[in-house]
Parts: sequence; structure tokens; C-alpha cells
Amino acid sequence: VSTAIRASAVRATGPAATLRVRRAARIAWTMVTVVAIQALVCGAALLPVVLIWSAVLAASEWSTVLRALTLAVIAVPSYVLFAVLLMFVSAITGRALKWQTPPNAQMRIAEVEWPLLQWARSLIAIHLVRFFAGALFRGTPVWTAYLRLAGARLGRRVYVNSLALTDYNLLEVGDDVVIGDDVHASGHTVEGGFVKTAALRIGNNVTVGLGSVIEIDVEVGDGCQIGALSFVPKHTRLEAGAVFAGIPVQRIGTAIDPRSD
Ligand SMILES: CC(C)(COP(=O)(O)OP(=O)(O)OC[C@H]1O[C@@H](n2cnc3c(N)ncnc32)[C@H](O)[C@@H]1OP(=O)(O)O)[C@@H](O)C(=O)NCCC(=O)NCCS
Repeated sequence: VSTAIRASAVRATGPAATLRVRRAARIAWTMVTVVAIQALVCGAALLPVVLIWSAVLAASEWSTVLRALTLAVIAVPSYVLFAVLLMFVSAITGRALKWQTPPNAQMRIAEVEWPLLQWARSLIAIHLVRFFAGALFRGTPVWTAYLRLAGARLGRRVYVNSLALTDYNLLEVGDDVVIGDDVHASGHTVEGGFVKTAALRIGNNVTVGLGSVIEIDVEVGDGCQIGALSFVPKHTRLEAGAVFAGIPVQRIGTAIDPRSD
């Protein structure tokens, strides 16, 4: 009996061990490529700043005081330049490499398959931009331009005052939309060991109140107002022209059309 048990254990560990090795190899390759590519992206964004600083430091005809003054004055603009370039380079690199969220997927985290890792790469790239540029530009047209370039389908006059949006390729937003401070809206959710993904569509003339959470596969109709600190569960359809608030959201009234007097 013990020989039979040992034989079955060997059979079981063989393929299991191979799977573990493959999983580890996928994770290692993903980490190496993420670090290498993000180093290149940050390097490309920093290059103009490094050139400017090198030129100032090499200006031997300047006095030490003048050089120190110049560096002090250009320090903050240098950071802003780096942040703008980082948004641009990161967005086009992510698109070129197709680092994005697969739509309508159900990815088992424990299996660590390629689609999950590709999604993880996109999150890391997004996180770096948030960290270095987000605090400077959130809520401004520059942030909107970055989100568009990174794959979000945003209409005209869209203001996003939040760094908690992800899965840009699954976000579709109409014209004249305000997404308030710290709104969480993304195309993924993690449940029971799976990452599940689906699109999020927000119509025209919508305001999403600050601190709200919108889950996956939600459609927000034109003219909707979503109250502060509200929760919109997955698969919800919010009818056009209404005010919603609460956890989960309930219809609490009719929205005023901003175009009416
Ligand atoms: C939802 C909202 C638009 C409703 O405004 P309104 O139509 O003027 O409605 P009222 O303020 O008269 O409130 C109507 C009812 O809903 C309740 N309510 C309003 N906002 C709520 C919210 N966020 N969560 C739960 N209940 C809310 C009110 O308490 C009131 O209840 P009552 O009838 O029992 O007294 C507004 O309250 C809101 O949350 N705005 C968010 C603004 C925002 O965050 N913008 C983002 C950029 S800053």
C-alpha cells in the first residue's frame, strides 16, 4: 500500500512541480520586463531634465552662487517637465505593448496566467504615473489628456479629480462629466480568488460625487447625478436624468438639466 501511495505522490508532484516552475518563470519574466521597461520609460522622461542640469553644472564660467541659484529655481519646473513627459511616455508605451485589461475576463489569481500578468503590468505602469504625476495634475485637462492617451475613451470637458481609476481601456465616459475627488471606478474587481473584468460606461452630463465607488459592468445614463460616498454595485444600470445616492445607490430624485434655465 505504501509503495502505491508513494508512486501516486510522485505522479502528483511531477506535473504540479512543472506547473509551479512555469508559474515562477512567468512571474520572474514579468518582473524583469516591468522593471526594465519602467526604467526606460522613467529614463526617457528624465532625459531632458538631466541634459538641462548637466548643462548648468558644466557652465564653468558661472560662479558657484549663480549655478546654485539656477538649479534651485529650475528644480520645481524640472519636476513638472519630468511628470508631463512621464505621463506621455508611459501612456504610449503601455499602448504599444498592449499592457491593458482583458475585457470580460475571469482570471484565477493562483494560476498567474499571462493575461493576469499583462494586467498587473498595466497596473504598475499606472501606479508609477499616479505616484509621480497624479498629485500635480489630477482634476485638470492634463490628467484627462493622459487618461485618453493611455486608452480611456473620454468625451469633451471631462474632469477626473481622482487617482483611483484603473483599467483605462475599459472606461467609456461621455461629454461634460465630473468625476469627484477619490472616486473609485475601474474595470476590475477581485472576488473569491479571481480578478473579474468588465467595462464601465458613463453617459453625458454626469457628476459622480466624491468618494463614491462604482463597480464593474455599470452603465450610468445621461444626466445622472451620483451623490457623495455612494456605492454603485456591479451590473447596475442607472436610468438617465435621475439623482442616485446611498449604499447601495437608490434613486432619490430627478436631476436638473444643466442646459435648462
Ligand atoms: C446627491 C446630491 C446631488 C443630491 O442633491 P439634491 O438633489 O440637492 O438633494 P438634497 O440635498 O435635497 O437631498 C435629498 C435627500 O437625499 C439625501 N442625500 C443627499 N445626498 C446624499 C448622499 N450622498 N448619500 C445619501 N443620502 C443623500 C439627503 O439627506 C436628503 O434626504 P431626506 O429627503 O431624507 O432629507 C448631493 O447631495 C450630493 O451628494 N452631491 C455630491 C457633489 C459632489 O460630490 N460633487 C463632486 C465634485 S465636488
